[in-house]
Amino acid sequence: MHGIDEIYFVEKNCFGDSWTREMLESEILNKLSVLETETKDGVLCGFALGRVVADEAELFKIAVLPDFRRQGIAEEMLKALHEKMKERGARVCFLEVRSRNIPAVSLYEKAGYRRVRVIPRYYGDDDAVVLRREL
Ligand SMILES: CC(C)(COP(=O)(O)OP(=O)(O)OC[C@H]1O[C@@H](n2cnc3c(N)ncnc32)[C@H](O)[C@@H]1OP(=O)(O)O)[C@@H](O)C(=O)NCCC(=O)NCCS
Repeated sequence: MHGIDEIYFVEKNCFGDSWTREMLESEILNKLSVLETETKDGVLCGFALGRVVADEAELFKIAVLPDFRRQGIAEEMLKALHEKMKERGARVCFLEVRSRNIPAVSLYEKAGYRRVRVIPRYYGDDDAVVLRREL
């Protein structure tokens, strides 16, 4: 298990100021949370964070540091996270993503997620796509 600081470093580099360190820490420490991290050459280069409530999971975030992208790291973390979610009893996973976030939408669709609906202007400047995958 890695320190919150290393995970927060990835968070800051990938999302800017979306979550504070305190928000991230409290989510990671929540008993319902599931976390997957990846380390390469001693550097924590990615994480995926979600939650399982009863038999439903939600993916909150997945991020890989820019220098480590397009090497299959997110795909591997997502697979491992799905396994952890299943072990906790989840049968399905949902997520919301910005419609214009092509890398993320492509990653999720490659991983077997299917579109459920679109929420117009959910992010103010962009629509949200709600995706779903059987686990
Ligand atoms: C989205 C993100 C996590 C992908 O990480 P990654 O490790 O580079 O992804 P992978 O190498 O595992 O790619 C898996 C698949 O995702 C898709 N993909 C990833 N990056 C892509 C890009 N820049 N353009 C198009 N498709 C992309 C492809 O289908 C890819 O499969 P392929 O390499 O066989 O074509 C990364 O770009 C990132 O951290 N982005 C910023 C944070 C973010 O927006 N997170 C998602 C919302 S929470």
